[in-house]
Amino acid sequence: MSTPKPQMFRVRRSRVHGLGAFATRRIRKGTRITEYLGERVSHKEADRRYEAKSSDDNHTFLFIVDRGIVIDAGVSGNDARFINHGCDPNCESVTEDRRVFIEAIRTIQPGEELKYDYSIGRAKDDPPDVDEVFACHCGAATCRGTMLWPAKRPKPRPKPRPNSRPKPAGRAGKTAPRRAATRRTATRGSGARTTGKRAKRGA
Ligand SMILES: C[S@@+](CC[C@H](N)C(=O)[O-])C[C@H]1O[C@@H](n2cnc3c(N)ncnc32)[C@H](O)[C@@H]1O
Ligand SMILES: [Zn+2]
Repeated sequence: MSTPKPQMFRVRRSRVHGLGAFATRRIRKGTRITEYLGERVSHKEADRRYEAKSSDDNHTFLFIVDRGIVIDAGVSGNDARFINHGCDPNCESVTEDRRVFIEAIRTIQPGEELKYDYSIGRAKDDPPDVDEVFACHCGAATCRGTMLWPAKRPKPRPKPRPNSRPKPAGRAGKTAPRRAATRRTATRGSGARTTGKRAKRGA
């Protein structure tokens, strides 16, 4: 059995929100910092656990692994649950064999707060003030103002060029993002979430 490595961060109060995780040493790009641990439950069970919460309370320790599993770090969770969201993150979440890890996507200096993009999905029945409910306080110059993934804007229709023939329907060059075997969960997703209360997405 390998010896567990000493934790590379410590938890203390954060300007972003509540408690946050701060590097205690220089962490090189690509380093696997920690695993997101907690009880593994179904989406239905996660919804049940959070159903009593008011709809304007966005606080959650849930992390979506896939369509079947959600990690509830509120139960048997570790310090990874204190890593806050950032719109210009220094970490990302990586799902491997249905386990979630947090890795550095650039070199992090001691004292820097660890952050990854929660990429919380949107739903068709979201209330109009959903971005306010999930308002982001990460402080990045490029903060998008919300922890939710940006809303899809309808694609502008290309202006027909003079002499250009209309393209046949359904052949508009649609591509789907290709998934690597290891999913980079901090990257754009398809809006997966638990059916009721939201979780950070991992699929
Ligand atoms: C897993 S907890 C992170 C730890 C949290 N700061 C705490 O003290 O419990 C996730 C919750 O922290 C809050 N949070 C994290 N990042 C945030 C951000 N950038 N802006 C606003 N709230 C944030 C949200 O309430 C979110 O649901
Ligand atoms: Zn932000």
